[in-house]
Amino acid sequence: MSDLLSQPLKLPCGATLSNRLAKAPLTEGLADPHNRATDKLVRLYRRWSEGGAGMLVSGNVQVDRRYLERPGNVAIDDNGGLDMIRAYAKAGTSAGNHFWMQINHPGRQAAVTRDGTLPAPSAIPLKIAGAAGKAQIIPRAMTEEEILDIIQRFVKVATTARECGFTGVQIHAAHGYLFSQFLSGLSNIRTDAWGGSLENRARPLLETVRAVRRAVGADFPISVKLNSADFQQGGFSNDECLDVVRWLGEEKIDLLEITGGNYEELPWADTTKKESTRLREGYFMEYADRMRKVTTMPLMITGGMRSRKAMEEALAGDGMDVIGLGRPMCVDTDICHKLLAGESPAARSYEHELTFNPSVLGPDVPADVAKAVEMWGNIGWFFVQLWRIGEGQEPDRNMGLYEAYNIYKEKEGALTAGLA
Ligand SMILES: Cc1cc2nc3c(=O)[nH]c(=O)nc-3n(C[C@H](O)[C@H](O)[C@H](O)COP(=O)(O)O)c2cc1C
Repeated sequence: MSDLLSQPLKLPCGATLSNRLAKAPLTEGLADPHNRATDKLVRLYRRWSEGGAGMLVSGNVQVDRRYLERPGNVAIDDNGGLDMIRAYAKAGTSAGNHFWMQINHPGRQAAVTRDGTLPAPSAIPLKIAGAAGKAQIIPRAMTEEEILDIIQRFVKVATTARECGFTGVQIHAAHGYLFSQFLSGLSNIRTDAWGGSLENRARPLLETVRAVRRAVGADFPISVKLNSADFQQGGFSNDECLDVVRWLGEEKIDLLEITGGNYEELPWADTTKKESTRLREGYFMEYADRMRKVTTMPLMITGGMRSRKAMEEALAGDGMDVIGLGRPMCVDTDICHKLLAGESPAARSYEHELTFNPSVLGPDVPADVAKAVEMWGNIGWFFVQLWRIGEGQEPDRNMGLYEAYNIYKEKEGALTAGLA
């Protein structure tokens, strides 16, 4: 039994998490062609609810059906299906745990655009070729009217989440999606009130937090997921992050989830990195340490946390409040129970066990293409596991990376083609 991990946590809004383990948000790809929740999501979340975590965060739910992070995203945008959102919330809270909806707009990282455009802070394309298959589309700079509309969309989705039985919300401001694009001086070169100074670049996020708080009330948990840094020259830096953390603290949010990176530089996903990086636990811990020093609000650290020992050290020594677990939950859905009960010393790091031989791609394949297949194949392996569980199958621990990559590519293409 781990006493530290089993401690309840009272949040500023008054809600209590029953323990310190949380399922990190994991995009499921299990919505229907209208981007409504499905029985598959219900099945997956019932299983996760029974897995022991004090809190689950949903995969990112889109505020605008036109722009999706993936074709199988749930969107709440006058597309009906609220009964299924209720069933989804009920399944995710069936064991009495918290279940928060992560709310997002992908901006220029959208993999699906129903109107052929990519709204973004500025008309600056992603640097990586083939990102989300849409790098050839130059994003368009949003008008102020659109920014204000998006804030209202976040409010609408948050209030819908509350009405349908979710017990909290998380605003996604990390990983290079819209709010993260606004925060970075590389993707936001606006000269109006939404660009330039950090205060202006943080305005969309902060205005959204305020508007959501006004709408959901003082007693409902609001979380933000924020990059500790983008890890790019000229991008959102850790120093800038510290200012945003202070401002979010003033807004009295309930939990800040710490992460890092974006589609151009994604440290937690890049398993092709050298061995020392692969083996280090808590990818963002040194940044989280600095964040702890500037705020008293509850902090959740996600990224590479696997052993009970490292988790307990993060709680006791580094002042973290919640440990987020992502990839292990795609396979070992009951790992939180086992960690809490002391039955397992660590979650398994499947991402580091997957191997890839670039020769399967044929001769003369450029190194960057092979690297992209390895990285996205590694993530795709986890997507495939979630689809399996949603469809009532068991995860397949023996699936190879390249096999998963091909299943992922084919299925994602079919989902895109089938969108209504
Ligand atoms: C399959 C998969 C889907 C993910 N989807 C989301 C998402 O919807 N929202 C989000 O904030 N992060 C998402 N992430 C990132 C995770 O929440 C987490 O930050 C990352 O996996 C690092 O944690 P881990 O090392 O415990 O897996 C996803 C990661 C994976 C592997």
